[in-house]
Amino acid sequence: MKKFVVGNFKMNTTPTEFSSYLDEFLPRIKECKTNVIFCLPATHFHVAKSRLDATNIKFGAQNISCEESGAYTGEISSAMVKDCGANYTLVGHSEARRHFKETLEVINQKIIRALAVNLKVILCIGETKYERATKKTKISLKRQLDTALKGLYENELKNIIIAYEPIWAIGTGKTPNVKDIESTVNDIRAIIADNFTQRSADKINILYGGSINENNFAQFAKIKGISGLLVGGACLNPKSFANICK
Ligand code: 13P
Repeated sequence: MKKFVVGNFKMNTTPTEFSSYLDEFLPRIKECKTNVIFCLPATHFHVAKSRLDATNIKFGAQNISCEESGAYTGEISSAMVKDCGANYTLVGHSEARRHFKETLEVINQKIIRALAVNLKVILCIGETKYERATKKTKISLKRQLDTALKGLYENELKNIIIAYEPIWAIGTGKTPNVKDIESTVNDIRAIIADNFTQRSADKINILYGGSINENNFAQFAKIKGISGLLVGGACLNPKSFANICK
């Protein structure tokens, strides 16, 4: 099965810098068989569209509005993102939840908006340091998945990728060990099976994200049940990111 590597640029680089980044990145991954996806600020979409159209690389947004259209100054709708040539959007990233006070109900609404315009969703879930310390990881992930996926039809799950990103691992240099991730991935599949069917649970793509770099990525990519990686800081270096993708 083809693996995914998703690079989340967060609020880094200007469109001009992203274009220079691609000058370095693209020649390095010519023979790459991985599904590579850039999650970009909307200001970078025109660069992505013109530079990635002739490649297998896809791009997406880092967030979308939960509203369809209207008086929501500063917001960007799923239809706008799609019209720019994007195929994906992140939804529920812990930074968006923290900084913009996104609730699980809002995340659910965003997923519905994305699917309505044929944008694929990379749904981020993860536990806090406290939840992990008090052995509440599974309960927390269940609450996040139950609400975020509420009302979805089973056949819509094929357009959803789950990104398991423990919040305490994002940008900290700390990661769970391989065994812990394996067991959490099993828990995620069990929750999906409860809400939908075992078949969907077996098929859904699950990524790991949180402090992945050029030196540690291989152990995560090999984990049973993991379809790929969601990379933050390390995707900003075109050489490192190309090595991870390859
Ligand atoms: P880091 O790889 O910088 O820890 O970020 C992970 C992340 O938040 C990707 O969405």
